[in-house]
Amino acid sequence: MKMIWFWLLTLLCYQAKSAPVGRRILVSNGLGQTPQMGWNSWNHFSRHVTEEIVRETADAMISTGLSKLGYEYVNIDDCWAELNRDDEGNLAANASTFPSGIKALADYVHSKGLKLGIYSDAGLQTCSKTMPGSLGYEEQDAKTFASWGVDYLKYDNCNNASKDTKERYQNMSMALSKVGRPIFYSMCEWGQENPATWAPKIANSWRTTGDIHNNWESMISRADQNDMWASYAGPGGWNDPDMLEVGNGNMTTEEYRSHFSIWALMKAPLLVGCDIRSMSSETLEILSNEEVINVNQDSLGSQGKKVSKEGDLEVWAGPLSNGRVVIILWNRSSKSAFITAKWEDIGLPSESVVEARDLWNHSNLKGSLQGNVTSSVHSHACKMYILTPSSS
Ligand code: GAL
Repeated sequence: MKMIWFWLLTLLCYQAKSAPVGRRILVSNGLGQTPQMGWNSWNHFSRHVTEEIVRETADAMISTGLSKLGYEYVNIDDCWAELNRDDEGNLAANASTFPSGIKALADYVHSKGLKLGIYSDAGLQTCSKTMPGSLGYEEQDAKTFASWGVDYLKYDNCNNASKDTKERYQNMSMALSKVGRPIFYSMCEWGQENPATWAPKIANSWRTTGDIHNNWESMISRADQNDMWASYAGPGGWNDPDMLEVGNGNMTTEEYRSHFSIWALMKAPLLVGCDIRSMSSETLEILSNEEVINVNQDSLGSQGKKVSKEGDLEVWAGPLSNGRVVIILWNRSSKSAFITAKWEDIGLPSESVVEARDLWNHSNLKGSLQGNVTSSVHSHACKMYILTPSSS
């Protein structure tokens, strides 16, 4: 009997290793059929997250209408635990910042119809060094998270004692698969060992970049680094160029609109990183653009890419369900300019006649288009269109 199991396992491992790109073997928790949407504490609150902030953020997800648009995960990042494990080796919530404990918080978030995410690290301590990591405690910690009702784990890469990366991430994946509760597994390995090429088998998303910062240069560089891995993403597992900075105040409204548009087209996780309890109406308007969100959540799950570029004038495009195509004309230069998307670059047959929908103006362009579409685009702004082939 033991031999049969051995051979079955060997065969499964062999198949996983030899799978050609395109036939994706996926983590089996069934989650992440579309990119995850929600909020995470890090970009705005950094080390100062508290249970009060998390509770009030859950309330704000409801009162602002964001939850109805698909934002569902409320994710606590680093710095939620005590520096030391308890006498039984369990992680313990920080007594001064999370006095009610994580279980109570999960119950509260669930009572609002939302899901709770937590953070740990595939190392000895997390990046802030204010709490332990899960290296060597994978099964125990996964069980703890499940017993608290946690729905999502972001798993970081600091202080990892130079242990094998794949093994560290795989161990937590296996531990999560045994706890009897579906937990979204979000790897945060910063793209160091090309996780797109191996993570789809074990995780629902994987960071492809180092940390985003709240400025234009950082944002566009994350987009470019993430772009090269487009063919590895799809339902069940997504490339993650890091969380949104929209609403954190250091970019212009046009820049944040570009940020949100490109993340949506790239099928990136839409994890809001600002203080949604006090966001401006412009921020809310960007984050709640349903037409743009629908691109991100499209059932085809195909990551759009940069398809042409003339200096700082770029065209990004990707296929959507029902034969539609989404395009972004992105002006990264310092002056307004005309940008043209040609059918040959965006995957449409040259004879295609299409209707174009402007996703930020919420209106259709006049008439139908053939061969190309041109538009004037302000500096650092973008135009985002869905092209639908005409029925005639
Ligand atoms: C970084 C990670 C960030 C944040 C931070 C917390 O490694 O990329 O997104 O989680 O750690 O210390």
